[in-house]
Amino acid sequence: MTTAVSPHRRVARVAALAMIALAMVVLTNAAVALATQGEEPVGTLSGEALITAGENLYGSQCVMCHGANGRGGELGPSLIGQGAASIDFVIRTGRMPLADAGDRPVHTEQKLTDEERRALVAFVPTLSPEGQRGPEIPEINDLSSASLTVGLELFTSNCAACHGPTAAGIAVGRRDVSSNLNIADPVEIAEAIRVGPGVMPVFGEEVIDADELDAIVAWVVHLREREAPGGLAVGRSGPVSEGVVVWLLGIGGLLSIIYLLGDRSGHEHTDLVDASGNPLDVDLLDRGIAVADARTGPGATPTTEADPT
Ligand code: HEC
Ligand code: HEC
Repeated sequence: MTTAVSPHRRVARVAALAMIALAMVVLTNAAVALATQGEEPVGTLSGEALITAGENLYGSQCVMCHGANGRGGELGPSLIGQGAASIDFVIRTGRMPLADAGDRPVHTEQKLTDEERRALVAFVPTLSPEGQRGPEIPEINDLSSASLTVGLELFTSNCAACHGPTAAGIAVGRRDVSSNLNIADPVEIAEAIRVGPGVMPVFGEEVIDADELDAIVAWVVHLREREAPGGLAVGRSGPVSEGVVVWLLGIGGLLSIIYLLGDRSGHEHTDLVDASGNPLDVDLLDRGIAVADARTGPGATPTTEADPT
């Protein structure tokens, strides 16, 4: 029994494409909304006003664990000796404020606003006597002029043992699965080098100077861009937007597969004829389309070969 290529198959195909397009638009909007969330204006406070704002924030966000004047408490270590780089790093990477003292600090979204971060960075180091304050936030210069060769060498000799040759992360010690370096921004990479979070050692100026710091940061960023699928450069805008992009690609892939499967189940021979009156093998035509689709769809494979019908 044969049927003509029904218009509704064409309609279904168009509808499927329209659904995919619509889903992409909706999800992209969601991605943009998520990515821009938290990018509040950094604010205008400075000097004493900024420090006072930081003091108040310390009282509401940190004191319960780190104690009065940052001297430490039952729930958290002393912050004496923690400088601007350290405070900026823990807040940027969402490690602090910890929700529960038993939690392990891990890299997540920043939980405070940029303005709140600036205020705490201005205040917390003032708790330490002058001369005992840890490093300032390191400056990163133009990464495009940093030497990747030097970066590779320094990364291999100083970092690869713990982070793996491609910065993908390997286990060190019992509970310290060292972070893969996929989501750290350049400034966070530089801060980590100077601060040494957790069991990571501190690398001071005398070990890694400012140019070498740039070179390592440039190398880590380069590694990441090299590993990105298809050379797709996702802006380093942070874990949220990147997660959403990965998610979008995943959903796109799934929809394409669903689309191909739907296409496959619709295979029927028809009594269409070509210009000279020979019957057209629509199945074969569709197979060509499916293969072409599969080439463009991530992870999809041509599926029409074993079609029993
Ligand atoms: C619920 C308790 C808790 C809260 C709230 C908290 N912290 Fe922490 N903080 C900890 C604990 C516990 C550690 C040690 C984590 C570890 O290394 O496993 C820590 C570590 C740190 C460190 C690293 C210290 C070091 O010696 O390496 C800094 C810096 C820090 N916190 C700053 C802050 C700031 C600033 C705030 C407020 C915005 C804050 N924390 C809020 C519990 C807390
Ligand atoms: C002894 C092992 C060790 C060495 C050597 C080491 N790290 Fe780390 N690194 C760690 C661990 C463990 C963490 C996670 C610490 C934490 O979150 O408590 C970390 C965290 C980081 C982070 C933060 C990642 C994030 O997403 O927040 C960066 C960036 C980083 N390291 C870069 C480097 C670079 C660059 C070097 C070389 C100059 C280096 N590390 C050397 C163990 C190491």
